[in-house]
Amino acid sequence: MINIAVIGAGYVGLTTASCFASMGHRVVCADIDQDRIAALNEGQVPIVEAGLSELVRSGLEGGLLTFVVGAAAAVADCEFAYLCVPTPQGPDGSADLSYIRSVAAEIGPLLPTEAVVVNKSTVPVGSTRVVEEVLGRDDIKVVSNPEFLREGSAVHDFLNPDRVVIGSADQAAAFRVASLFDPLRAHLLITDPASAETIKYASNAFLAAKVSFVNAIANVCEAVGADVSDVIMGMSYDRRIGSEFMKPGPGFGGSCFPKDTTALIRIAEDAGYDFGLLRGVIEVNVAQFERVVEKVEAAAGGSVDGITIAAWGLAFKARTDDLRMSPALEVIGRLRARGARVQAYDPAVGPRPADHALDGIEVCADAYGACDGAAVLVVLTEWDDFRRADFTKVADLLTRPLRVVDARNLLDPAEMRRYGFQYTGIGR
Ligand code: NAD
Ligand code: UGA
Repeated sequence: MINIAVIGAGYVGLTTASCFASMGHRVVCADIDQDRIAALNEGQVPIVEAGLSELVRSGLEGGLLTFVVGAAAAVADCEFAYLCVPTPQGPDGSADLSYIRSVAAEIGPLLPTEAVVVNKSTVPVGSTRVVEEVLGRDDIKVVSNPEFLREGSAVHDFLNPDRVVIGSADQAAAFRVASLFDPLRAHLLITDPASAETIKYASNAFLAAKVSFVNAIANVCEAVGADVSDVIMGMSYDRRIGSEFMKPGPGFGGSCFPKDTTALIRIAEDAGYDFGLLRGVIEVNVAQFERVVEKVEAAAGGSVDGITIAAWGLAFKARTDDLRMSPALEVIGRLRARGARVQAYDPAVGPRPADHALDGIEVCADAYGACDGAAVLVVLTEWDDFRRADFTKVADLLTRPLRVVDARNLLDPAEMRRYGFQYTGIGR
């Protein structure tokens, strides 16, 4: 049985800790948030993530998973210390390594001899060296093992990875980390730290570029009178293009694509390369928020000033409650800035008085409450519940004429027209 310390009990740390425990490793997971740790010790998982509660509870019951406050309390017996703390966007666009540095400084004097420290947080090229320097220990190797899970399917993605990437200057340390993943039988790529760190940013940037590309194609479709759904289907049959990450929408968001694309531009710039292509990806994305706002304005008759808008969706995508950099909040914020009153509903997001992200938005108890007296319905997050809504009831609650802006192309335009709606989608 291998002893692993996981530092950070957020989306990545909690998933990593509970999945490693489910694979038979003994895991101590630490966070500085005392309330979070108290809840986790009771088996209460503070985030919406499919399958995570079950794994946390079975880990606790089987004695393989424990939660402690503070990194120092987690590392005493560890053979591996996984760093899963935030790396937010700093003021100059680069990744802020202060959380990583502070954990490394805290655990440096406490790590057992020859433990391996693993960067699982998304960190710029050169960060293994930074952690080594802060740890100040010759006997400790630092290895990069970036994470590729998606929120909403984090547990599934961790346990069924497309690949496991390990970057290390020390082959023995790389093989030790690789052995942790033996039960998963995944494709394994062992490389140097700079390549591993670059793989993580390049993968997120490529996926973000795909989303911006289809959003740009959707805009072309609108201009030339083509249907983006058919265009994408026609492209997707080409196996070189594929069907994943080909859904047009209100722009990409979340805690990673926005910061990681910006950080990669910065990494390239610092190394003397102007990554103009990636700047274009971000520009298309920001323009897409505005396009959705303009569609709502047009549906409302030219202005949303003084108008009530029903917004379906607050999270940055379906199957998560994460509001970080949510395109839904971006669109709602812009509508409010133009005088709209917004009534919103999201199946995973209730009122959060402590979270200022929702300030000024009336968060409703259900999808119908959000529609009550609203002039335009805008669909911002692709929850299946919205597709299955009772549109006769929705039509009764909205004011006339009935208008829907479907920023996720979630609804069937023909069906919506049969209900009497003026339907506006993306690229169709
Ligand atoms: P998160 O904000 O959900 O969780 C981070 C946790 O670390 C928080 O609970 C915080 O309290 C804790 N923490 C901060 N300082 C600490 C300290 N000194 N000691 C102990 N705990 C501390 O963040 P996340 O979404 O899990 O992301 C973590 C990293 O993983 C980031 O670098 C991110 O880019 C990367 N990543 C995230 C995802 C994702 O889907 N969220 C996927 C892949 C990679
Ligand atoms: C993304 C990556 O998919 C993960 O591989 C990576 O590990 C993670 O970032 C990270 O580094 O944090 P995540 O942010 O959970 O995962 O969400 P995605 O499913 O990638 O979606 C990102 C955004 O793109 C969302 O706003 C989503 O709605 C949007 N999107 C995605 C589209 O608009 N269209 C698509 O076809 C796909």
